[in-house]
Amino acid sequence: MTIGIIPAITTAAYIIAALLFILALAGLSKHESSKSGLTYGIAGMAIALVATIALALDRMKGIDDEWIPVVLLFGAIVVGAAIGFWRAKIVEMTGMPELIALLHSFVGIAAVLIGWNGALGGFHSAGVAASDVRTLTNVHEAEIAIGIFIGAVTFTGSIVANLKLSGKMKSSPLMLPGKNFINIGALVLFAALTIWYVTTDGSTGVQPWILLAAITVLALLLGWHLVASIGGGDMPVVVSMLNSYSGWAAAASGFLLNNDLLIVTGALVGSSGAYLSYIMCKAMNRSFISVIAGGFGIEAPASDDTDYGEHRETQADAVADLLSGAKSVIITPGYGMAVAQAQYPVADLTQKLRNKGVQVRFGIHPVAGRLPGHMNVLLAEAKVPYDIVEEMDEINDDFGDTDVVLVIGANDTVNPAASEDPGSPIAGMPVLEVWNAKDVIVFKRSMAAGYAGVQNPLFFRDNTQMLFGDAKDRVDDIIAAL
Ligand code: TAP
Repeated sequence: MTIGIIPAITTAAYIIAALLFILALAGLSKHESSKSGLTYGIAGMAIALVATIALALDRMKGIDDEWIPVVLLFGAIVVGAAIGFWRAKIVEMTGMPELIALLHSFVGIAAVLIGWNGALGGFHSAGVAASDVRTLTNVHEAEIAIGIFIGAVTFTGSIVANLKLSGKMKSSPLMLPGKNFINIGALVLFAALTIWYVTTDGSTGVQPWILLAAITVLALLLGWHLVASIGGGDMPVVVSMLNSYSGWAAAASGFLLNNDLLIVTGALVGSSGAYLSYIMCKAMNRSFISVIAGGFGIEAPASDDTDYGEHRETQADAVADLLSGAKSVIITPGYGMAVAQAQYPVADLTQKLRNKGVQVRFGIHPVAGRLPGHMNVLLAEAKVPYDIVEEMDEINDDFGDTDVVLVIGANDTVNPAASEDPGSPIAGMPVLEVWNAKDVIVFKRSMAAGYAGVQNPLFFRDNTQMLFGDAKDRVDDIIAAL
């Protein structure tokens, strides 16, 4: 059997693209090499796209009305590229996680459509006599059922993640009675339906496509329920978990389409996403199994009607006085700094205080903001020197010796309830222990809760004062008063 020139070149191009994707992952794992990692990824994707288009055109050669699939192929590429370009151009940094969640949903729905295409376009082993051919078609059918299942879970799960991250859906966990049984029951039902779908010979009167439709609906509902059951505080892990699911969905599509590159890339995304979820769970003291199983074992939090007392309010000039008399200051930024785009005046304030001889450092929580590294990127953008930006573990023991902490638009990441209240929905999550400092100033616009939706007892402590208003305006006021 001879292999055509285009398929041969495509196979070689796929190997090069796969290697570039591996180099991209390696590059992206370190700050210094992340730019080159990105370049490898773009190059790999460009090679993969060109090779796949060439292969598709080669396969279309000689078929009736050849121009129809060609127009469809290029039409889809142009429309997809235009929408992708437009969205990437207008997206705010704070909107990245919800956009990523939406993109995962596309991978999910693509896997579902490819699975259905495989099922409708091929033939079911019903009616095929027991033979090697039948065994092969059985394997193919199992791939279809599993691919559709993973794809559909990823699709609805990612849509819920998008709605939660964009604030269109409440971030608190959905607590249906017996939710763990619902999830386990859905998995058992999926296994039973898949075995039925693969082994049916059609004699029971149930058509294979009906079983496949049942698997699809079941997976769509399960995906929705899994992510809806996870609370706001665990959303970072959910986004990377859905990233992993989308990888496995792509790998399943690769098996169906006989596309080696899709299998390799899907497996890379699937396993790196799973590993990232595991690292994040460890950093946040969360059970990996509990999070990927839709909050398995987490009970509904008791409603919080604790009376924390009164909070104290302060003004910008009083904060300027406090800072002028301080020897050491730590700034802990959060999502509110990103919303207010306050990083530039914050960098200015830092410089002014350093010029006066005050020691200023930043304390960065691993999930501050809405995506890993969010705060580091903003501070680098505003040219805050790297050496004064410290990770939570590096700085947490230093708060006791600090005069003033400025909490700028952060809430969950500085909530003492995480370490002091075992009944809190964020219990066990490591937090920046800002309350150990002599004075704490919290910049926010109101007494509203943070992303996890829980009250923060820090605001009511004796050494805490609230500075209300937009973070950028208030930091500007402090600079003016200094
Ligand atoms: P949050 O807990 O969300 O608190 C941000 C605070 O900023 C809010 O309390 C808000 O209070 C204040 N704020 C908003 N706009 C402001 C403005 N213009 N000026 C001043 N303050 C403003 O943020 P965090 O402490 O950074 O914690 C991150 C949370 O997001 C965690 O729960 C985390 O699990 C979750 N999350 C993280 C990620 C990743 S990977 N980092 C991804 C998804 C979700 P007001 O409304 O009263 O102003």
